[in-house]
Amino acid sequence: MNSLQVKLGALTIKNPFVVGGGPLSGTADHIKKCAAAGFGAVVTKTASTPWFLRRYPRPLYKLLDYKKDGTNPYYVPDSYTWMHREHNSVFHPLKFAKIIEQASGYAKEQNCAIIGSFAARGLEEWEEIAVAYEKAGCAALELNFCCPFPPEGLTKRPEEAHIGIYFTRNPEEGAKVLRKLRSMIKIPLFVKLSPDGGDFGKMAKAFEEAGADGITMFANNKTLRIDIETGKPVLYGPTAGTGPWVKAFSQRWVAEIAAATNMAVMGGRGAATWQDAVEFLMAGAAAVQYCSPIMIRGVNYVQELINGVGNYMERRHYSSIADFQGIALKHMYSNKDLIENVKALYAEVDLRKCVGCRRCVEVCCYDAVNFARKAIIKKSNCAGCSLCSQVCPVNAINMHDRPDDIEHFQAMVSAHPDLAPADFFEQDEK
Ligand SMILES: Cc1cc2nc3c(=O)[nH]c(=O)nc-3n(C[C@H](O)[C@H](O)[C@H](O)COP(=O)(O)O)c2cc1C
Ligand code: SF4
Ligand code: SF4
Repeated sequence: MNSLQVKLGALTIKNPFVVGGGPLSGTADHIKKCAAAGFGAVVTKTASTPWFLRRYPRPLYKLLDYKKDGTNPYYVPDSYTWMHREHNSVFHPLKFAKIIEQASGYAKEQNCAIIGSFAARGLEEWEEIAVAYEKAGCAALELNFCCPFPPEGLTKRPEEAHIGIYFTRNPEEGAKVLRKLRSMIKIPLFVKLSPDGGDFGKMAKAFEEAGADGITMFANNKTLRIDIETGKPVLYGPTAGTGPWVKAFSQRWVAEIAAATNMAVMGGRGAATWQDAVEFLMAGAAAVQYCSPIMIRGVNYVQELINGVGNYMERRHYSSIADFQGIALKHMYSNKDLIENVKALYAEVDLRKCVGCRRCVEVCCYDAVNFARKAIIKKSNCAGCSLCSQVCPVNAINMHDRPDDIEHFQAMVSAHPDLAPADFFEQDEK
């Protein structure tokens, strides 16, 4: 029997699936519904005081690139682009603390941690809300340093806009908030970052030193799509966006921050399937947040995530998440490794499998493929890029190690000898 339990710093949760802050956790009933469905934790809808973040334009949401199946209304494609203009909770944070209080007993019964999310301006406000949320029964706090729609322009007074993404853009101010809260709040403190930030490595270090227990990567950032039939932007212009296509970006930063700090990283933004959770966990995440995928599929989708990861662990003989958490990190190549340790390759066609479709001829930029009813690769030109082997429809192309690097560099230039310096080959032979 395997265990899906994970540790987020001092907090242990029953599985790594966490509802990201959003409309799924905006009322006591919603929070309870997520807890009943089986999530390990629920991050609450961010509450904040400015009136301009508690109002939303309509329509709110737009799904693009979402290929429906008319014969099956329950078919949900894995790929989509999500855009929205939802801001923070319509409730004042102190009212939201009451909502948390109403849900906290039930969530505890379900062994589901409530992580309270809020945004504030000025240390006093941060302090007041944090105390109220801790008292209300939160197991941890997620400080919202991320609102993806910078509030500039929503108010005439610039200092009113020192909220949300202001703290990702000004990490020294974020560190002040953390130091203040750390001195008075006992439960773990997470910081949710905006991907519209700067140097996340430096930022994460500064937040760790200031007392953060973890980082959530990421909120949405501003995205833009155009409707080519009307020539107008989708949903008002640049607006918050996400989708499975952004997973690779989030994952890169999760891995870097997990490797560089001792904090628990909650990965997300772009995770849609159980396989995505495994990827994030292997990249060093301690848990994985899902928001738009759950909105599209419904909260009970968590059971599919739990079963998917559980069956995967059984198949791979993992008894706990810790068995594979972060395992990809030690295989990341530094630039130095790439220069010193990576082997050169060349491609070879298995003529028994080749069906003569010419795909490899089309994709080879190194003029390395001769064609006469079937493909034949000129080893002396092949740069070992491996593209042909990936597009070949019948997997007829195998990649082999080259004995040495010199042969590889000779192959790289032999396709375009006119571009090689006159003494190129002499230098290589020295
Ligand atoms: C409609 C909607 C509302 C959201 N509201 C909040 C919020 O109040 N606080 C917050 O921290 N993140 C909010 N988010 C961001 C999500 O928690 C999450 O970080 C983001 O959508 C990326 O994850 P995903 O790809 O799983 O959707 C919201 C996202 C959506 C789609
Ligand atoms: S892509 Fe594959 S099948 Fe097509 S010609 Fe090349 S080797 Fe043959
Ligand atoms: S591996 Fe790259 S360079 Fe070599 S034949 Fe294939 S496509 Fe051309």
